[in-house]
Amino acid sequence: MKILITGSNGLLGQNIVKQLLEKGNIDFLATSKGENRMSNLGSENYQQLDITSKEEVNILFKSYQPTVVINTAAMTNVDACEEHRDQCWDMTVNAVSYLIDACKKYNTHLIHLSTDFIFDGEKGPYKEEDKANPLSYYGQSKYEAELIIQKSGLKNWAIARTIIVYGVVEKMSRSNVVLWAKGALEKGSPINVVDDQFRSPTHGSDLAKGCLLIAEKQANGIFTFREKK
Ligand SMILES: NC(=O)c1ccc[n+]([C@@H]2O[C@H](COP(=O)([O-])OP(=O)(O)OC[C@H]3O[C@@H](n4cnc5c(N)ncnc54)[C@H](OP(=O)(O)O)[C@@H]3O)[C@@H](O)[C@H]2O)c1
Repeated sequence: MKILITGSNGLLGQNIVKQLLEKGNIDFLATSKGENRMSNLGSENYQQLDITSKEEVNILFKSYQPTVVINTAAMTNVDACEEHRDQCWDMTVNAVSYLIDACKKYNTHLIHLSTDFIFDGEKGPYKEEDKANPLSYYGQSKYEAELIIQKSGLKNWAIARTIIVYGVVEKMSRSNVVLWAKGALEKGSPINVVDDQFRSPTHGSDLAKGCLLIAEKQANGIFTFREKK
């Protein structure tokens, strides 16, 4: 099995790479838009890849020919997606279509990360077959990416939906809810949080384990990742 990871500098990406390095016996290539930010990841296992470039995606698939791609790369700032809609669509939808085309060519299993933001929050916890109704542009674009994967005719695909990922990785590009609350409490500062949402934060390492299980079992379909009550 040859695993290609996109967005490997991110919270989930780094957790996946860490577990692959610990396993030690799996051929993998970590890629992200920026320079590698993981200190123990050697240059032989890292390459820069901007998934919004169809050309870069094609060149990389041609040279590496992955059995599995785990697409963790994303524009994850919900407000930025609202403000920069073209950029969000390019990253969340167009880039996924490039990955789909490349996966078809090399018979690659596509594992794509999605979100509970495809739902409107009127009920829950949501099951895989529940009807989507995204309220934000981020949610709409993530749902559109799910739809193009499902309609693509690709033989092997999995959509892993997750909720509020937390944890600590190297040189983090952004904080997360647990770190934010911990930091405020350590300073003795009050925290203001909404009190009408029930969500299930997911530790980055648990999510990474789930993604690698999907890869190992070559599982297809939609999977919801959230911590058990
Ligand atoms: N975090 C959450 O609470 C949450 C909740 C639900 C779903 N999800 C989904 O889970 C997945 C992983 O999220 P995450 O928290 O690990 O995200 P993250 O920490 O924000 O990391 C995303 C990574 O994507 C990379 N990236 C951005 N633009 C790229 C491009 N054009 N080409 C290649 N890589 C690019 C960035 O790499 P560089 O740093 O190298 O630029 C960044 O490190 C995403 O699909 C997200 O939508 C996350």
